[in-house]
Amino acid sequence: MSVEKITIPEKIATGVAHSKLILVGEHAVVHGQPAIAIPFPLIGVESIVERVIGSVYLDSSLYQGPVESAPKSLAGIVNTIKQTLKILKIPYRDLLIRIKSSIPPGKGLGSSASVAIAIVKSLFMYSNEQYTKEQLLQLANISEKFAHGAPSGIDPLTITSHSPIWYKKEEPIDYIAPSGEFYFVVADTGRMADTKSAVSTVKDLIKQTPQKVYGKIERIGDITYQAREALEKSSKQLLGYLLNEAQKELEAIGVSDSSLNKLIHFAREEGALGAKLTGGGNGGCIIALAQNEIHSKQLSEKLKNFGAQAVWPFVLKSETE
Ligand code: MEV
Repeated sequence: MSVEKITIPEKIATGVAHSKLILVGEHAVVHGQPAIAIPFPLIGVESIVERVIGSVYLDSSLYQGPVESAPKSLAGIVNTIKQTLKILKIPYRDLLIRIKSSIPPGKGLGSSASVAIAIVKSLFMYSNEQYTKEQLLQLANISEKFAHGAPSGIDPLTITSHSPIWYKKEEPIDYIAPSGEFYFVVADTGRMADTKSAVSTVKDLIKQTPQKVYGKIERIGDITYQAREALEKSSKQLLGYLLNEAQKELEAIGVSDSSLNKLIHFAREEGALGAKLTGGGNGGCIIALAQNEIHSKQLSEKLKNFGAQAVWPFVLKSETE
């Protein structure tokens, strides 16, 4: 696309959004249980809007061209763009939206929601309008419905938050204040995850054996309540144990796979206090709780050498520390 030639750079606006991690409660949150999610600022998305002559163009690593001809996989983003332009009363033409992202797509790290939120922010800035948090969430959820089918809404909520969140559908969002320091390592299996199909795998299982599967979902809910206490009381050992327990249930509801299990077992063998998948599963990433800062660096190195495609060590600590 030769958009470079027709750019009229008199007007440029940007919007940014960070990534997210689910600590515990993924999938169960879709069925009414609570989940804990953490904003993950090590990776993120920037959307840059420029005035150009012609159509509305998208320039991203996944697609470059007029929004109208974007592939089906981007239908959610396209709808978020259209709805945002409508709200802002911006004519549907003469725009170039460039997406720069360090979030690997399809890895359970909230790439689709981060892209949607960055785009919405940049379009609001382009028209010199202030957005409300409700508007951001509403517009991002348009895209999330396409990406995930029946999302719980936890991804956009975490991406627009600066603190770990406690989220249960139909209830107001609550924020968690961890006490002490928790050193985590996130590692990418290299396998693309498809949250939409993982969510429908669980739905199908519920249809087959409702009592059994709801039992597992409720157990994940119990684990999540205990994990909140562990975070608030600085109980690393307990949190590690709970992550392992959650993983057992996630395996039982069919959302883990051999690539995740391999990394999870390796992390535990290398001294992680606990490890589980994070996000939709069936590919994507794991999250492991390391013993301390030095161990998190060693574990990251070992996971990389073991074959993880990317590794991010990070610390979660109370805001006052
Ligand atoms: C995706 O990040 C988390 C899931 O629970 C789906 C959702 O809550 O929408 C798998």
